[in-house]
Amino acid sequence: MKIIVTGGAGFIGGNFVYYELKNHPEDEIICLDKLTYAGNLETLEDAMKNPKFKFVKADIADREAVYKLFEEEKPDIVVNFAAESHVDRSIENPEIFLQTNIMGTQVLMDACRKYGITRYHQVSTDEVYGDLPLDRPDLFFTEETPIHTSSPYSSSKAGADLLVLAYYRTYKLPVSITRCSNNYGPYHFPEKLIPLIISRALADEPLPVYGKGENVRDWLYVEDHCAAIDLVMRKGRVGEVYNIGGHNEKSNLEVVKTILKQLQKPESLITYVTDRPGHDMRYAIDPTKIHNELGWLPQTKFEDGIKQTIDWYLTHKEWWQNILSGDYQNYFDKMYGERLD
Ligand code: NAD
Ligand code: TYD
Repeated sequence: MKIIVTGGAGFIGGNFVYYELKNHPEDEIICLDKLTYAGNLETLEDAMKNPKFKFVKADIADREAVYKLFEEEKPDIVVNFAAESHVDRSIENPEIFLQTNIMGTQVLMDACRKYGITRYHQVSTDEVYGDLPLDRPDLFFTEETPIHTSSPYSSSKAGADLLVLAYYRTYKLPVSITRCSNNYGPYHFPEKLIPLIISRALADEPLPVYGKGENVRDWLYVEDHCAAIDLVMRKGRVGEVYNIGGHNEKSNLEVVKTILKQLQKPESLITYVTDRPGHDMRYAIDPTKIHNELGWLPQTKFEDGIKQTIDWYLTHKEWWQNILSGDYQNYFDKMYGERLD
């Protein structure tokens, strides 16, 4: 089988490329990625050595380039990870989020219709459901929870999801969607909470915690997410949405303190900064459907996954230090400069 993986130079897409090459060595993987600030070819260095892997630099919203690739490659499956993915950036500049996340999805699905595929899989997020209150631990997001978004990022992902379901109903395009909770693991760009805290704690720099650090996220080790996507795109029912999560809720403060303990760094590094506007309080996934239908269960406990992740950042300093020394520094100064003074 030939699989186009868009956004494969990013965090989850990169991990997915390695998951596929390892678990389905018979399949060919073509990574389509624009290499935005979040895309990193160093992540794919080992994959490039595999004859079953190919990299193509292109924008998913560039119709001509996407059609040309489909015409040449005739893929069986398309799995779309490509997206602008950072909530804080979407608050600063929503436009590129609509362009890539919605228009890009449309172009990919048009190419799927034109050239024919067996499955188009959309990688979505639990953020499309909005948030849950902290005082109702009995509530979880199910696939029936209404879409109710908070940020330009989550709105763009929700817009894309609706379009994917419309292409199923209107054109019978064989689609599926997964909505996953927060991921962590290797190759995570250091603007996101966990790698940001690890890299800054190692440098004994102040650790920005938004508001009171009470917000809760449902953390899933990235390889468990990859396994779930692999199952859904090959065996999941067409036209269906599957939630992915491992019942692993932690407040941001708990996460930060766990990392500090592991690194033997003092909690005095924690610095409370102005909250994110519209900051979602709690995300929590009910993964019953994917478990009952496809037998998926997460394999990595948070205690083990966070240790593995910290070890990876300790043994791959060059990967993230190259990012920190580049353009990203300008972003950090702009977003956090005054808040950390
Ligand atoms: P990321 O920001 O690390 O990577 C995104 C990748 O997409 C980068 O390689 C980038 O170059 C590429 N890209 C961006 N715009 C593009 C375009 N127009 N054309 C082609 N490539 C483009 O993101 P991530 O954290 O790996 O997230 C991947 C997907 O998973 C996203 O769709 C995101 O919404 C979803 N998701 C992420 C999480 C999470 O915790 N990170 C959780 C649930 C769902
Ligand atoms: P993030 O990794 O941006 O993921 P998301 O907003 O998509 O869940 O943030 C995770 C949580 O950590 C979120 O509640 C915001 C918070 N956060 C901080 O407290 N400080 C930071 O510097 C960042 C980037 C995030």
